[in-house]
Amino acid sequence: MVREVLIKGGRIVTAVDDYVADILVRDGRIEAIARDIPAESIEVHEATGLMVLPGGVDVHTHMEFDLGNAQTCDTYETGTRSAAFGGTTTIIDFALQRQGQTPKQALDQRLALAAPQVCVDFGFHIILTDVNPGVLAELPDLINHDGVSSFKMFMAYPGVLMVDDANIFRSMRTVGNHGGMINLHAENGGVIQVLIEEALAQGNTSPKYHALTRPSIMEGEASHRAIRLAELAEIPVYLVHLSAEEALAAVVEARDRGIPAFAETCPHYLFLTIEEYDRPGFEAAKYVMTPPLRSHKCQHALWRGLKFDDLQIVSTDHCPFCFNEAPYGLNKSKQLGRDNFEQIPNGAPGVELRIPLLFDGGVNAGRISLNRFVQLTSTAPAKMFGLFPQKGAIAVGSDADLVLFDPNKTHVLSASTHHSNVDYSLYEGREVTGKVEKVFLRGQLIVDGDQWLGQPGMGQFLKRSASGRVM
Ligand code: URP
Ligand code: ZN
Ligand code: ZN
Repeated sequence: MVREVLIKGGRIVTAVDDYVADILVRDGRIEAIARDIPAESIEVHEATGLMVLPGGVDVHTHMEFDLGNAQTCDTYETGTRSAAFGGTTTIIDFALQRQGQTPKQALDQRLALAAPQVCVDFGFHIILTDVNPGVLAELPDLINHDGVSSFKMFMAYPGVLMVDDANIFRSMRTVGNHGGMINLHAENGGVIQVLIEEALAQGNTSPKYHALTRPSIMEGEASHRAIRLAELAEIPVYLVHLSAEEALAAVVEARDRGIPAFAETCPHYLFLTIEEYDRPGFEAAKYVMTPPLRSHKCQHALWRGLKFDDLQIVSTDHCPFCFNEAPYGLNKSKQLGRDNFEQIPNGAPGVELRIPLLFDGGVNAGRISLNRFVQLTSTAPAKMFGLFPQKGAIAVGSDADLVLFDPNKTHVLSASTHHSNVDYSLYEGREVTGKVEKVFLRGQLIVDGDQWLGQPGMGQFLKRSASGRVM
């Protein structure tokens, strides 16, 4: 049976458009966009006074992420439900290759875990930690047949996740030749380790030292190195969770020379600063993510970068660990690092807040335009990672992933109202204007105000085309 839905009278806002029209959805895709489509015995949603946005695409989340000693507290089900309430209908999460494992095994394991639970459409980046000739030989097939066209590598966390420059370069060459892209966590892990050891030896164990041992110039150094390696390998490169002005300077310098260097930043770097680490007692552990929060000067540079396209994407790096041990246990909690900042699981929550925060603090505050806001949260991520125009667009033939957004509704961000399992909010008590009212995933209404209408397992795995080639 053909399923039709009509969204009537909304203000359609995309990365380039802004106009009022009706949208007819048939079998999950946009069938027609026109001024006055007759509503003949089909499901109608009145959108007068609301914006209609393409569903958000968040290309950096960590659901059920296992760091060995710690695991994030959102399952694929709770994390993607939270995403949907925040207007995000597609995520790209991570499949972590463990030592001795092949990337394909990592992908298959992750798919089996995620598929029955996921409530929005999803893809994976594979994190490469163990690079050898056999692993390199698998990558072309992953890109061309399995739809995984991006791979994250770590220049930080020696002995755990870090890969040396030679193996990053080898991976870049192989991936680049087949339409893939390498995403880099760019921090100088070796130097940071020295600083951590020095701090601990001096008895400096509090959360603030997480930030003090990860200086922004070491993000700048690694970012510059990552871009130079990619330049030599002739592959696009994408820097994840960019936080430092020194790192941004490396991106700007490369882009000015025509090098395909791209980067994302995250809401916490745009709205919070290093001052959060001065909170009393262990409270500051809530803000322990990597890279750490930076100075006002860095924050100012990031906003400028977003405005002038030196930064292309805002993603969340949603990596939630509870503050308290109960109810999910010590290994899902920041309390692991109560006596030693190095043991605090790195990561912060926020998958539900990206769109309201960026609308309020970006568009309403006059820092970015409305179209740019859609570009940063939906269209650019879809384009960058091989999902456009299926995702990231409101166009005939695109998936009907649509968000009805009230630009005038004010609400207060709080852990008591968000839908993630995590027990705190980085933005507790912050008032924002602009609220997600309804969310459609492929034409199906999954969020209606406070009501959840989706089901676990309804999210579809997305086989992506080339990454980093169409910006
Ligand atoms: O602190 C963070 N960002 N944790 C998640 C892992 C990563 O590096 O993205
Ligand atoms: Zn990272
Ligand atoms: Zn991350």
